[in-house]
Amino acid sequence: MGKIICIANQKGGVGKTTTAINLATAIAAVDKRTLLIDLDPQGNASTGLGVESTERDKTIYEVLISGLNTKDAIVRTNIPKLEIITSTIDLAAAEVELYEFNSKETILKSNLSSIIKDYDFIIIDCPPSLGLLTINALTAAHSVIIPLQCEFFALEGLAYLTNTINLIKKSLNPTLHVEGILLTMMDRRNNLSVLVEKDVRNTFKNLVYQTVIPRNIKLSEAPSHGKPALIYDIRCVGSAAYIMLAKEVLNNNKTNDNEIKDEQRKKSAG
Ligand SMILES: Nc1ncnc2c1ncn2[C@@H]1O[C@H](COP(=O)(O)OP(=O)(O)O)[C@@H](O)[C@H]1O
Ligand SMILES: [Mg+2]
Repeated sequence: MGKIICIANQKGGVGKTTTAINLATAIAAVDKRTLLIDLDPQGNASTGLGVESTERDKTIYEVLISGLNTKDAIVRTNIPKLEIITSTIDLAAAEVELYEFNSKETILKSNLSSIIKDYDFIIIDCPPSLGLLTINALTAAHSVIIPLQCEFFALEGLAYLTNTINLIKKSLNPTLHVEGILLTMMDRRNNLSVLVEKDVRNTFKNLVYQTVIPRNIKLSEAPSHGKPALIYDIRCVGSAAYIMLAKEVLNNNKTNDNEIKDEQRKKSAG
């Protein structure tokens, strides 16, 4: 069984997509079968992985709304072991159209049930809102990574997100938990960034990843080349940070890994 991790924060521009792309790439690079689901109508994760909008004919929208088989929406990327379900601006309509469905919060979960066994990790890039798309992601996921930008307002709005997570835990997904809080766009020359890090670590303790993603121009250039930063420039500090993050995530999920191995052992033992 794969582990489903969504990357969520209703604030835009905090590094969700950059994290989704580069974490997924770093995990795939160590031979884990990885699927990235672009659940944001802006389609930035799709673009950042080199799938032009003109090449996206079967997207997550068709899976959610038109009953397309999930498998038929999966496309390969240039990175071995990394596949993607893309999105386009059409997905914006799904936010409204989903309200017509009885299963409006659980449709993504049921659509993933048929493919979860094919992957070690499924990473979902959420849109910058707490609407039905993000609710579907939180309902389908085992856990959530919350990127926080190292800025004065980093914690602002976080209560809404944790509140939503708690509501979903109570009703739709009892085992949902915070996988980790990730500090992004850190500038160590900026005292405020350093203070924000201290504050976040004091508040959330072990939930905060040791790895901090630095502000790094290469991370922001890479998407315009349709490449993850790890492929665009493996030696840049941003790539190094995402490799460290992947190590932490994999380390924290070792038992998950073992469960997978146990499953395989059981199967091969007949
Ligand atoms: N660590 C970083 N250093 C520099 N630029 C970054 C970094 N992380 C993200 N960016 C840039 O900041 C913008 C917002 O990041 P993005 O990952 O798209 O955030 P979100 O998905 O939360 O809206 C993008 O232009 C992205 O390239
Ligand atoms: Mg984004």
